[in-house]
Amino acid sequence: MTIALIGGTGLEALDGESVPVLDSAQTPYGRASAIPRRSEALSGALFLNRHADDHSLLPHEINYRANLWLLNELGVDVVLAVFAVGGISRGLVNGDFVLPAQIIDYTWGREHTFADATRLLHADFTEPFDRDLYDTLVHAALLADVDLFPEGVYGCTQGPRLETAAEIDRMERDGCTVVGMTGMPEAVLARELGLPYAGVCLVVNPAAGRGPGMIEVAGMRAVVDEASPRLLRLVARFVELVEQRE
Ligand code: HPA
Repeated sequence: MTIALIGGTGLEALDGESVPVLDSAQTPYGRASAIPRRSEALSGALFLNRHADDHSLLPHEINYRANLWLLNELGVDVVLAVFAVGGISRGLVNGDFVLPAQIIDYTWGREHTFADATRLLHADFTEPFDRDLYDTLVHAALLADVDLFPEGVYGCTQGPRLETAAEIDRMERDGCTVVGMTGMPEAVLARELGLPYAGVCLVVNPAAGRGPGMIEVAGMRAVVDEASPRLLRLVARFVELVEQRE
């Protein structure tokens, strides 16, 4: 059983105790964000930093197709994605974890499919996240004593700018509970490849118009640092549970 973690903001910490598993990140779809690394601390799970190892890629610049293709080529069985998000729902505060069950896609112009003239794909996406993995995350959170807000709706915006307050109001009316910039097309590309995919969102700021003032990107770092031990505990339990399923 090979588990891949796709992280960026919030999960870089794993990177320290890991070794690259390939010489190159090149794929038929161009270069992946980074060479996946095997984490000894997490029983051999692979880690891919979607923003690149030097965090140089903005959300709309990420080569999502290359990232998913590479993980699939490496024989990955399960993908867990970690996202930093803004909180839209009134009850959410910085440092909360939200388990997304649904997605609304507001992105545009991204390379968002493996379908082409020779591969006519119409992937079913009714449930964008794998239910078994979702349930495993709920279980892992209980074991790790980490609170999770279930049944999140992840609104994926194009970025790199943050949203206007009116856009967030509209997203709330649409049913979004959190907002991020990297969930799509990542989730659907995993689906097209048949890779079971689940996600965990870390709320790093109140979404536009939901907090006291402007959104300070600098403040997100402190939230990530505070949440990082809980996140690592959760991920470690998740990896253990998935391994036990074999
Ligand atoms: N909006 C979009 N993406 C984000 C946010 C946000 O407020 N916070 C972290 N990623």
